[in-house]
Amino acid sequence: MLEHALSIIPNISKCSKTSKKIIVRIDINSPIKNDKILDDYRLRAHARTISILSDAGSRVVILAHQGRPGQDDFTSLEIHKNLLEKYVGKSIMFIEDIIGPYALNKIDNMENGDIVMLENVRLLSEEVVEGPPERQANTWLVRKLAPHADYFVFDGFAVAHRSQPSVVGFPMVMPSCMGYVMERELAALSEIWRNRKLTLIVVGGAKVPESLRAIKEALDKGLADKVLVGGLVSVVMASARSRVGPSLRQFLEGMGLLSEVERARTLLESYGDFIVLPDDFRSRSGTLDSSNLDEVPGDIGDATIAKFSEIIANYEYVVITGPMGKIEEPEFFAGTRRILEAASRRKAIIGGGHTILSAEKAGVLDKIFHVSTGGRAFLMALSEELPAVNALVESAKRFWL
Ligand code: 3PG
Repeated sequence: MLEHALSIIPNISKCSKTSKKIIVRIDINSPIKNDKILDDYRLRAHARTISILSDAGSRVVILAHQGRPGQDDFTSLEIHKNLLEKYVGKSIMFIEDIIGPYALNKIDNMENGDIVMLENVRLLSEEVVEGPPERQANTWLVRKLAPHADYFVFDGFAVAHRSQPSVVGFPMVMPSCMGYVMERELAALSEIWRNRKLTLIVVGGAKVPESLRAIKEALDKGLADKVLVGGLVSVVMASARSRVGPSLRQFLEGMGLLSEVERARTLLESYGDFIVLPDDFRSRSGTLDSSNLDEVPGDIGDATIAKFSEIIANYEYVVITGPMGKIEEPEFFAGTRRILEAASRRKAIIGGGHTILSAEKAGVLDKIFHVSTGGRAFLMALSEELPAVNALVESAKRFWL
């Protein structure tokens, strides 16, 4: 499927044309604290696509999101614009608008090579509602913006698993291409797909429902030989397998994760032999036994680090998404660092802002085989079709073939 998509979807050279107006959907959603971007890997990656288009004389209209309404990191994209400008090496005009007359007027008056960035697309409530491409093509966003541009370039691999208007709506109504990031990611995915029996998946982080789904899909489809689990996901899974003390139970309830414990139990019943959970964790009070948890751990424990590292050494490809612990607290960084070090000696594929940041901090980023701009998207793309890819294939059939 991916190889087929790669052969059908035109790459950026087909869309980078002088004087053409191009809407480019990138994904620069980044970890942010006190209005500071903590990891700018996605910005650096997309800078190349933007430069290629602008250097060719295209008029580039950037569309992106940050966070989700209601979350702390749901902010304006102005800070992203400042950094992107640095990496592209050209000035970018920031427009505090998305589809209003002010934005449309600015777009209509662009010169060749100009780059503008529109405000956080998730300010439009319709953007966070997922739906089929034809319906997304009928949203305000697509109906207002598409007539002001010639092409759509999708480069936001990290958001390719969301069937949202800015992802799947535009390809339905205009000729579309994949950007440089998207092309690289799909090429790496298809390599892993061909070598899936040699692949180990390591899942961590705090996005529990998505991770459980991704683990299930990966195992359902035989996409990995084994899955190692760390981070909050492993706490939920360990809770499904063993006795949970009252404090941990209260924590899980407060986080809305009790139903996830149930899902994890079902998953372990089906795939217990393929999923490796931590034997021990670390907290401020010391080592915790995973079979009798009553404290929220900060990291995986030493015995687990040794066991995971040994398993990693047996695989050719190691896909890591999400950290093993609370990496923002230095005393809980060891698990993530050691797992990344072990993986960097294999063909490691890492994804997700926090994982990339960790690899940088651990000093192994340059030894990573493929750094993906999307953690969860990468994992999902291994096991299910990406809405963005399907939309781009359909678009190619409609407008290019
Ligand atoms: C991500 O960082 O995972 C993507 O930008 C998608 O964001 P979302 O999970 O809020 O849809």
